[in-house]
Amino acid sequence: MRIVLGVGGGIAAYKVASLLRLFTEAGHHVTVIPTEASTRFVGTATWEALSGNPVSNSVFDDVHQVNHVRLGHEADLIVVAPATADLLAKAATGQAGDLLTNTLLMARGPVLFAPAMHTEMWQHAATRANVETLRGRGAAVLEPATGRLTGADSGPGRLPEPEAIYDAAMALVQGQSDFQLPLAGRTVTISAGGTREPLDPVRFLGNRSSGKQGVALAVAARNAGATVRLLAAHMDVPAPAGVEVVPVETALQLREAALAAAADSDVVIMSAAVADFRPAEISDTKIKKRDDHADPVITLVRNPDILQELVELRNLKGAGAGEKQQLIVGFAAETGDSQGDVLAYAEAKLHRKGCDLLVVNHVGTDRVFGQDHNSVVILARSGSEPQEATGTKTEVSAAIISRIGLELNSVSPRA
Ligand code: CTP
Repeated sequence: MRIVLGVGGGIAAYKVASLLRLFTEAGHHVTVIPTEASTRFVGTATWEALSGNPVSNSVFDDVHQVNHVRLGHEADLIVVAPATADLLAKAATGQAGDLLTNTLLMARGPVLFAPAMHTEMWQHAATRANVETLRGRGAAVLEPATGRLTGADSGPGRLPEPEAIYDAAMALVQGQSDFQLPLAGRTVTISAGGTREPLDPVRFLGNRSSGKQGVALAVAARNAGATVRLLAAHMDVPAPAGVEVVPVETALQLREAALAAAADSDVVIMSAAVADFRPAEISDTKIKKRDDHADPVITLVRNPDILQELVELRNLKGAGAGEKQQLIVGFAAETGDSQGDVLAYAEAKLHRKGCDLLVVNHVGTDRVFGQDHNSVVILARSGSEPQEATGTKTEVSAAIISRIGLELNSVSPRA
């Protein structure tokens, strides 16, 4: 989707950087148009770097392209944040003194204003009238949040949180145009974190998984319009807002939760680090050191392979008439060794497990686990070319979710 993000001259302009990230991470093309005043708060270099697109606030830049006409016509959505009292007044009275106000007059798609100003300005009769005028013409004007304002004052006038503006923008677009988010109407189940297998009431066997990748996937899937269920094993990061969280501890608990959740899921992503083995016995009491120096021996038994079971169940169930089969995505943490390289092991795992996509991580003790950056290769059972994705876990997740969207929405049946 092509989005124009107008930035007004208010202190809350810095928060709009997060809003811009939400848009770009969901795969949207964003052109930022800051007002002259706003560049006193956040400079154009920030917007250029974050959006990856050139930034201008003058109708006299690139005149041959007639930017305000092109941007206004091409935009599937225009969001103005923070919408200052001045910008609301200019928009309401149809002024066209700079690139942003010109573009607003050329808009063909939905327009969303996210106001931020002092309470007195928001409640002033002039602003009230401008807001009514804009709403009357079909623009969406959010109510500002209530709380601490720039100085010591507080009340209604805070810029709504970036996530709230993002959600309102997506809802507005879906309601007003034919545009559909890639995972709209889909249910996506994602397992995240590392399972813990208890030895006794205080000890467990665990692993280094932080849950960051799974959480980033949940955010990306939510932002792509999906209903998201997060099966959360142990994680070092909080679960995101707007997703259903099912807490689990052991592999057996995760198996039960995954099989139940898979029943109505279009997509299941197994990004959790599941313990392959669990202690054969769990002591009811704390295992103590013994005087005779007979140190305990821990016997391990195999845990079920949840991913493989999900695939078997899916294959048994098949797809209804005209339906796409459930898409199952596995993760492989590989180190490679003298017997084979990372990709060779991953290819073998993809076919052994039978999932549709396998996201391959190259791991070591200092790689991937707990890190913010990641580099993965996505292998497909259909045999299409391996796809690389590199960047922050957020960026990698956006790439994985966008690939899933393509797989789900492709017309050709999967191999
Ligand atoms: N997985 C699972 N159930 C298990 C173990 C793993 O569902 N008991 C899933 C993981 O969530 C991941 C994928 O299987 O999506 C691959 O896990 P990985 O640990 O890399 O592979 P293993 O099956 O353990 O194979 P190996 O130890 O031989 O590398």
